[in-house]
Amino acid sequence: MSSSAELVRAVDLTVGYGRHAPLLRDFHLSVSANTILALTGASGVGKSTLLYALAGMIPPREGSVDLLGARITAFSERARSRHRARHIGFVFQDSMLDPARRTLDLVTETAIYAGVDRRSLLPRAHELLEELGVGELAHRRPGQISGGQAQRIALARALATAPRIVFADEPTANLDPASATS
Ligand SMILES: Nc1ncnc2c1ncn2[C@@H]1O[C@H](COP(=O)(O)OP(=O)(O)OP(=O)(O)O)[C@@H](O)[C@H]1O
Ligand SMILES: [Mg+2]
Repeated sequence: MSSSAELVRAVDLTVGYGRHAPLLRDFHLSVSANTILALTGASGVGKSTLLYALAGMIPPREGSVDLLGARITAFSERARSRHRARHIGFVFQDSMLDPARRTLDLVTETAIYAGVDRRSLLPRAHELLEELGVGELAHRRPGQISGGQAQRIALARALATAPRIVFADEPTANLDPASATS
């Protein structure tokens, strides 16, 4: 059993799509608290796929993933989703913002899945949007903002519930150098 000081633990992980050869074989990873880990590699090698598997969004062919000491690969899909909503923030490579919803609703929607009152997240959502320089966009929709602004909003959404673990898939790819490092 892994301790919860170990945030992410992957053992013998093999991941792939459909009938294709695995992208990753017998992969091991251990990440403890207060660690920033960067994953680099050529386009198409499987970086996003690995993050999906570690976050429990795609089931591995083999092996196990523990998040905060809980073996999510043994959970039902529903239990996995709940665990993710409570403890994990995920920034998708293409931001993945629902085009029909306002920025503020997008940032607070994770609350619903995490079982938190949405309104209680409003002050933090405003604060995060301000901090990330997109406070004035709170009432816009994704179709009315730039790609870099969408990335900042996606980051605010991932941080809104103050998760213990944040998976960020190239979250600054569309930002200018100053915004990317601030
Ligand atoms: N749903 C899917 N079904 C089948 N193959 C897929 C699927 N999603 C991705 N792939 C393939 O899996 C491989 C790894 O994709 P992935 O998105 O993980 O790469 P990546 O390392 O994140 O690349 P990039 O740096 O371009 O974002 C690619 O060859 C991709 O075409
Ligand atoms: Mg990718």
